Amino acid sequence: MSELNNTGTTLELKRSETALRPVQPAQDDTAMRFIRIAVSLSAEKDLKKLMDLITHDAQELVDADRGSLYLIDHVNKKLIFYVTDNESFAEMKIDLTPDSISGYVGLKGLPLLIDDVYCLDPALPYKFNNSFDKKTGFRTKSMLVVPLISHMNETIGVIQLINKKGIDEIIGFTDEDMKIIQAIGSLAAVSIENTLLYKEIETIFESFVSYSATAIDERDPCTGGHSRRVAMYSTELAKAMGTFTHDQIKEIKYASWLHDMGKIGVKEAVLNKENKLTVSELDALKCRLGNICEKKTSDAYEEILEFQSKNPTAPLDEAFKTLREKIEKFRAETKDMIEFIVQINFPGFLSDDKAKKLEEIRAGVYTDRTGKAWNNLTDFEYENLKVVRGNLRASELSEMQSHAAKTYEILKHIPFTRELKNVAEIAAKHHEKLDGTGYPARLTMTDIPVQSRIIAISDIYDALVSQDRPYKKAMTPEVALKILTEEADKGKLDKDILKIFVEKGVYKIAETAKI
Ligand SMILES: [Fe+2]
Ligand SMILES: [Fe+2]
Repeated sequence: MSELNNTGTTLELKRSETALRPVQPAQDDTAMRFIRIAVSLSAEKDLKKLMDLITHDAQELVDADRGSLYLIDHVNKKLIFYVTDNESFAEMKIDLTPDSISGYVGLKGLPLLIDDVYCLDPALPYKFNNSFDKKTGFRTKSMLVVPLISHMNETIGVIQLINKKGIDEIIGFTDEDMKIIQAIGSLAAVSIENTLLYKEIETIFESFVSYSATAIDERDPCTGGHSRRVAMYSTELAKAMGTFTHDQIKEIKYASWLHDMGKIGVKEAVLNKENKLTVSELDALKCRLGNICEKKTSDAYEEILEFQSKNPTAPLDEAFKTLREKIEKFRAETKDMIEFIVQINFPGFLSDDKAKKLEEIRAGVYTDRTGKAWNNLTDFEYENLKVVRGNLRASELSEMQSHAAKTYEILKHIPFTRELKNVAEIAAKHHEKLDGTGYPARLTMTDIPVQSRIIAISDIYDALVSQDRPYKKAMTPEVALKILTEEADKGKLDKDILKIFVEKGVYKIAETAKI
């Protein structure tokens, strides 16, 4: 008691002397409870649960009837506390001012022991707010209010304990109680600081991940929002499967956000390629075919003039008739070639007949009267137009597919926390197929993590129903699910996971969320 500055019913402790000093619990029982509390506080990472735990344990240790824990927002000068009922956890804020008991303790960083809040000396800077008592009929009497002081000597919160339960009546808290709560407060401050720090890191990391995914998606305007939707499908699917822990679901979410990270290393021309030839490439081709047609026409005209000069008596009518027929033929052939090329320029399937016709166009080299050869198609145009499926040449396809391996190369350098250590591997395997036909490593069933199989289904489904790909019409969910089922039947996708995706209605989530 010699350390206490007795002010009647209120006791203030000198912070420098006592606030950070370790306290030896008086009884073995208390010591055991203290150790148990220390262990549980250090293990809890959820701030709200931690605050509940601290309040509950503090109440129990000193037989308090009620307890509250406030966090201090020094920037906005607020005391923050949480109100719980069975369903929700609401954050409440009150002003941090020295005229309230908690505010005083929070600002001064000093504990208060009050035997009866209704008998406070009016000269004290703080007052008891009896509005709660008035409203509820509760009678607040004794109070123990202790600051939570961080290792940086900053008051980060306040524990307020109300009405110490005696045998038949409410009694005052003791200085022993105060020492115990101060000791708990030191532990609590460390745990809260760690939790806040953990939360901050998590928030920063989550922002980094989501903005990275947005940046990836924005490189390809046709797939806007793809990574976000894939993350949504995958997370819901993992939850619906019911076999993953909270941390594993978070790992799946991050891996989904980042699954196409490797696309930042894919050339824009490949990433954004819509058709086999671009508009300007196609215009150049049309222009050349038109020039060849003109050249054939002028050559035919010159041939007639030459013939006429050598045979001045030959009938002109016949010669011009032949010339007209030739010109019509050249024009009709050119029109047909252009229409055909425009048609096969769209991504799709090139049949053998069409491939043969394309080959004939390429082979149809015109040699003019000077001996100069005019090719209908350049090698580049031919290589692009002859693609049988889709619109990417083999080299472009392999560049596009390299994004999966690049995803791993990028993500493996990110120091994920222990619970997220598999993000790179999960993300990089989203294009592997159970039958070994996927990429980049052509893995088979046992080597493909379940998490990657989840992302594979979400990824394909979103690509099929996505509204925003100009070179491909969006499919209805029914058609997309049919294609996924066919892929699963062929042994490429995981049937059991797909069943949950369909039966639990996971595929509807993006539509419901309107993203
Ligand atoms: Fe991908
Ligand atoms: Fe994707």
